Amino acid sequence: MIKSFIAATGMYVPKNVVTNNDLTKYMDTSDEWIQERTGIKERRFADRLAETTTTMGVEAAKMAIENAGITAQDIDFIIFATLCPDYYFPGCGVLVQRALQMKEIGALDVRNQCSGFVYALSVADQFIKTGMYKNILLIASEKHSFGLDFSTRGRNISVIFGDGAGAVVLQPTEDPDRGVLSTHLHSDGNNAEILAMYNPGTHANHWTNGHKLADFKDAEIGEMFMSHEMIDHAQNFPNMDGPAVFKVAVEKFPEVIQEALSKNGYSPADLRLLIPHQANLRISQFVQKKLRLNDDQVYNNIQKYGNTTAASIPIALCEAYEMGKIKEGDLICLAAFGSGFTWASALLRW
Ligand code: ACO
Repeated sequence: MIKSFIAATGMYVPKNVVTNNDLTKYMDTSDEWIQERTGIKERRFADRLAETTTTMGVEAAKMAIENAGITAQDIDFIIFATLCPDYYFPGCGVLVQRALQMKEIGALDVRNQCSGFVYALSVADQFIKTGMYKNILLIASEKHSFGLDFSTRGRNISVIFGDGAGAVVLQPTEDPDRGVLSTHLHSDGNNAEILAMYNPGTHANHWTNGHKLADFKDAEIGEMFMSHEMIDHAQNFPNMDGPAVFKVAVEKFPEVIQEALSKNGYSPADLRLLIPHQANLRISQFVQKKLRLNDDQVYNNIQKYGNTTAASIPIALCEAYEMGKIKEGDLICLAAFGSGFTWASALLRW
């Protein structure tokens, strides 16, 4: 039976390090508050003009392709996960196809925010298992720094997020002791609005129960997607009810990890490494405690990079592998929770 396995990893983070103290220049916050509530010490911000979500993804992809010992010409499908694409459309996948001068292969963009990489992995896994593709390039990249509110008004969100990209090459294997064992995808749209960026969009307040999110003009046609009023009222930034997100995250993370373990007849003690989406160090610590995992079984790097949404898992995976924390035969769990809500896990034998 054909399974898929991660043949190689890659990552890219911008050079520009932004500390918590640096953020105090723009908003009323403190290093102490940020570290205590999130564990974050610093994050990277992309060069405002020279780097984009796609260019960072391309750098991570080049590293993964080289580590896989193949060339960009060998890739037969691209999946790109991001919540902040270079263009509203088309997606970043085609920009990667162009940048790496690849063949006229398929390119798919996934918009599942924090769980985007695990969703993308699950899609790629199906394509490999059916024999349709042999070298799938999975990229997740975010340039959050371009779209956050760095005034005190936006501090509950803007201190959390950082920029960066991760990538993997997925290939087939017939080795029964290796590869993706299972993936588990979930969603609950009941709370879609509590962690969301509404504008620009076509919602026209349709979903908000009379609560006015944007000043839609009463034009006969057009002028609804984006307006000067939206920008004047700072309605072009993400919104988040942090405590509400926290509450559901600490319930769903352990649940979906346990689901992956149980499906394959394992328990948390069998895990070599859990790589959770780096949402908040306190969430990871809660999950670790709930599953009774020791410190060596959980990899966190949010302290250095902040929350890089879809990119956080492939960045952490690449870093953990390069540090020698993952070896052939190890049981690895990837798990994510975020906006939507969507949450997901993947269990792999490395
Ligand atoms: N600096 C200083 N004070 C702040 C800041 C800040 N950056 N942000 C908020 N505060 C203040 C608030 O205004 C509030 O003040 P008040 O008590 O006078 O009203 C106080 O701090 C407490 O605010 P809370 O929001 O209750 O603080 P909490 O302890 O919940 O921490 C946080 C906020 C860090 C956002 C937390 O709720 C959290 O991490 N939630 C999960 C969010 C998450 O993981 N999101 C990402 C997942 S999805 C994805 O990755 C896209």
